Amino acid sequence: MIDSYGSQDLSNISNNIFSKLKNKKIITNGEYCKLFEKKISRLVNSKYTVVCNNGTSALMMSLLALNKKKIIAIIPNINFVASANIISLLKGKIILCDVNRKTGMVDLNSFKKILEISKKKKIKPNIFIPIHYGGNVMDLSMIKKLCFKNNIDIIEDGCHSFNSSKIIRKKKVIVGSCQFSKITTFSFHGVKNITTMEGGAVTTNDKKIYSKLILLRSHALKKTKINDPYKMLYPTLNFRMCEMSALIGLQQIKMIDKFKKKRNIIVNSYLNKFKKFEKYFKPLNFKEKNIFWHLFVIQLNNSKNKGVFMKNLKSKKIGTQVHYKPLYRHLSYRNNILINDYANSNFFYKHQLTLPLHTRMSLKNVDYIVKNIKKILLNKNL
Ligand SMILES: Cc1ncc(COP(=O)(O)O)c(C=O)c1O
Repeated sequence: MIDSYGSQDLSNISNNIFSKLKNKKIITNGEYCKLFEKKISRLVNSKYTVVCNNGTSALMMSLLALNKKKIIAIIPNINFVASANIISLLKGKIILCDVNRKTGMVDLNSFKKILEISKKKKIKPNIFIPIHYGGNVMDLSMIKKLCFKNNIDIIEDGCHSFNSSKIIRKKKVIVGSCQFSKITTFSFHGVKNITTMEGGAVTTNDKKIYSKLILLRSHALKKTKINDPYKMLYPTLNFRMCEMSALIGLQQIKMIDKFKKKRNIIVNSYLNKFKKFEKYFKPLNFKEKNIFWHLFVIQLNNSKNKGVFMKNLKSKKIGTQVHYKPLYRHLSYRNNILINDYANSNFFYKHQLTLPLHTRMSLKNVDYIVKNIKKILLNKNL
């Protein structure tokens, strides 16, 4: 149960879910997908939602929907590979932004520096894709102003932070409401806070973008006459979600309050117990009750022993993970990027460790993890 840092929780999915689809005419992108979209919009406070087959597709559709001749995108260096891979496939240019050492999210000063350097080099970034890391909600208010001034569109990667919200500058900010962006993307992969097995969604308040996303999701086909089945407007792919996934998503949505509460209880237990461990590591604390915690992250004071620490935890069947390796360290991106500074990204990468956090865990599991961490730290003198 705790041999992985995250896990799906399908305990509320009824065994006869398949019977709802047996006699349906349409089993993909049908009525359950539409209902799932409505529920997502209501939850995150967006005008429109387009569901799709995973979070990577959600990012790909979003980048295509913004219709840039050549994509020049600023993305965080501490990042999953999805956005960088898509930009590369679309023959765009990647600019890596350093992160804040304490949050792992884009640092405002680094962002400003990138704009200065870009100006000097006569490069015009046109898209920015920040990540709301680990369930946290990033403050995008200042960056939004800079982006507006410089004609940069924002796509929020909300894959870690579905339904998370936080009071920022006295205002409630819900990830997905697109208060600071054109588009937000989500993933419903098994390890995320709610799952459709594979799945994703894009939210927006812009009707034109919404209409474009609908076309992009399904080969951009427009029905014409009965004897001419469809007109293809431009090349795209099949990003559709199936009805089975939407049905699972609808049932998962009903569990959100329970899931959120349980994750909060586990996090609070960790935070309390780890107060005595400050000599060895500090946990990231997002400090708000409406956060839908995705990752429980600690930062080791001494990064040299991280490998030994992880190995020892593994031998006790405690799964850990590193989120993430800075993108410039991947061979494919080493020579194909613009980068300003990566000192903080490297620091974050070297010291960061994700411990198990999911709703199938019990407080007894937390006790077991804490007890073993204590043993390993003392015995191995880490
Ligand atoms: C931050 C981030 N963006 C994008 C993705 C891609 O989502 P998916 O795996 O559903 O394609 C992930 C998935 O792990 C992610 O963590």
